[in-house]
Amino acid sequence: MKLNDIRTAEAKLLVRTYDRTPISFVGGEGVHLFDENGAAYLDLLSGIGVCALGHGHPAIQAAIDEQSRKLMHTSNLFYHPGQAELALRLTEMTGLDRVFFCNSGTEAWEAGLKLARAYATLRRSEGTRLGTKILALEHSFHGRTMGAVSTTHKLAYRGPFEPLLTGVEFVRFDDVADLEAKFSAEVCAVCLEPVQGEGGIHPVSKEFFAAARRLTHQTGALLLADEIQSGLGRTGEWCAYQQYGILPDVTTLAKPLGGGIPIGAMLCTEEAARALSPGMHGTTFGGGPLACAVAIAVIDTMRRDNLLDHIRQTGKYFFEQLQSLAANHSAAVEVRGKGLMLGMELSNAELAKHVVARMLERRIVINRTSETVLRFLPPYILQRQHIDQAVQTLDEILSSAATAANLPAAVQGAHA
Ligand SMILES: Cc1ncc(COP(=O)(O)O)c(C=O)c1O
Repeated sequence: MKLNDIRTAEAKLLVRTYDRTPISFVGGEGVHLFDENGAAYLDLLSGIGVCALGHGHPAIQAAIDEQSRKLMHTSNLFYHPGQAELALRLTEMTGLDRVFFCNSGTEAWEAGLKLARAYATLRRSEGTRLGTKILALEHSFHGRTMGAVSTTHKLAYRGPFEPLLTGVEFVRFDDVADLEAKFSAEVCAVCLEPVQGEGGIHPVSKEFFAAARRLTHQTGALLLADEIQSGLGRTGEWCAYQQYGILPDVTTLAKPLGGGIPIGAMLCTEEAARALSPGMHGTTFGGGPLACAVAIAVIDTMRRDNLLDHIRQTGKYFFEQLQSLAANHSAAVEVRGKGLMLGMELSNAELAKHVVARMLERRIVINRTSETVLRFLPPYILQRQHIDQAVQTLDEILSSAATAANLPAAVQGAHA
């Protein structure tokens, strides 16, 4: 099917959850995507942080090929080697003790929330005073299922689905005093993204993260770090929390873990894991043989190719290039982020929308988050020449937007 037919069919057949950009991608190789006419696009978004090894990586192809010939699915009623082999790697990388496998980010987060509530129930049964309240941060994003949406701040994502999970309260981002004021023995979980993604690429401060750890340690509440977007190397460490020197009780991984194959993981401490016993939580598909084999291939490739180092180096270069660009354009407000999770805030939403559209015309894929922020989540295999290409193009687009903005309206009309 070609783009126009796809659009007509989808408009009639699909539930209207997405406002898609009118391009149909049919192939990919490395850092490039190909549309139905064979045009190549530089992919600086990697399917919202998923295709960490780029497109068509031979290690992923080999894992899919090999595992699909052996065994695709068994359910969680039986053993297969994949979960244990993947859990060995993930626990070593994250410093946490146990893993629950699922199929997506929101499911991993849901597992974390359920664990927090179950752990509080367990502790109460053991005589500890621990309530059921959950603290999350303003501008947070944790997913689209009911629990995840309940801890997600944006009204547009929550409002129509109310009533949501009870007992969730939002703390002002990075505001230690607000956290201290809202924290008590009634709280069973403090939730945060070490680097807020959908919220506009905002790393949480060391002081705030440390305060959340200190307070939760005082009562036994769990500290949940959502690393679905920031984890698995994206910021130059396996988990962004490692840059803060803080170990949470629970973390969640998904997006890049399967390099394009859906898989999520909730990791927790031995202590927190006491709260779940057989039958309390589960999934049919989670941690299936195919997804595990691919995730193992992603991790082993990252280790073999020393990609964490590469992410740190290319991320630093990208950040510096964006900063010099921002210094030359008054419409660029700030550059933020870590590793290859970067954002450039522009002065207004219309301009950000315009820039994303012009970048796409120039065949470079980025997106806009939090209205005004240009977001870059490129594949980890990105090279300097791709960054140069993107920054040069951005420079040209911002320059011509500034020129257009300075022209009198009548002249702008004449140029339109
Ligand atoms: C921090 C964070 N948590 C959770 C999610 C939800 O993940 P998924 O879309 O795989 O359910 C996302 C997705 O963007 C995310 O960025």
